[in-house]
Amino acid sequence: MLKSVGQVDSVRVVTLLDDYAGYETSFYAQHGIALLAEVSAQGSCRRILLDVGQAATPILHNMALLGLDPSSIDAIFLSHCHYDHTEGLVDMLKAIGKELLPVIAHPDIFRGNYIFDPFIRNIGITHKNGVEAIEAAGGHLVLADQAFEIMPGVLSTGEVKRKTDFECQGIGTYNLVDGVISGDTILDDISIVINVKDSGLVVLSGCSHAGIINIVNHSKEITGVDEVELVMGGFHLIEATDERISKTAQAFQKLNVNTVVAGHCTGLKACAELARALGDKFTLLQCGTTLTIPR
Ligand SMILES: [Fe+2]
Ligand SMILES: [Fe+2]
Repeated sequence: MLKSVGQVDSVRVVTLLDDYAGYETSFYAQHGIALLAEVSAQGSCRRILLDVGQAATPILHNMALLGLDPSSIDAIFLSHCHYDHTEGLVDMLKAIGKELLPVIAHPDIFRGNYIFDPFIRNIGITHKNGVEAIEAAGGHLVLADQAFEIMPGVLSTGEVKRKTDFECQGIGTYNLVDGVISGDTILDDISIVINVKDSGLVVLSGCSHAGIINIVNHSKEITGVDEVELVMGGFHLIEATDERISKTAQAFQKLNVNTVVAGHCTGLKACAELARALGDKFTLLQCGTTLTIPR
């Protein structure tokens, strides 16, 4: 647990991008995710963007539809290296148009990250979003592998402790560092945790490669807060076994999370099982999905 974790008054989370546009909407969808956390505390509002999709274009289109101004974004948080979470970075920084905008990520985020099946392909950050390009576009990199407070009551989980026996087997990716190829468990997978006064924790994840149950347990551990109000993001269960999906749903029931909102890489089977197990506590994430805590 961090020495003392602050609290915020409220948070509104707006889905700027997801794989699904939603029924009868004009949103643009794309394989990727971008969640905007608008955090109100001490009389002011700070806006943190979790992930930037594969391109800024659909995010900016959706922001315009939602009446949101890119220049109001105060920081970008990258959940991990994968292209569907990072490729829009430099173009989003340009659209935000600020100097020294914090770009928070794990220190390993710039490593080569490859799949070899069906053919060699880098699925990590490309040169288009390298350190120099990020800095030239107004970004200021904040690379940390441990938990820390971005502001009082809003934390990066840092590297997540992986304790469950049914999550985090890796997804068949490999790291390429200094000419050496090695198996990858995506240790750079980090999430945002927000401690909302009188409500509990709000956990926002990108792909949850560390395992969504590990992430929630880790969030409770680092904050010392037991109540979890909302877990929202991609849970990467799209290729998971039925056993892992049902153990995840059972774990959510035990954790007594008030609201679970899942999309992006969660997958139809897992969403169906979560909806069955959690009933009204489960909602599908898609472009425009917005939740405010406290309700
Ligand atoms: Fe990913
Ligand atoms: Fe993803």
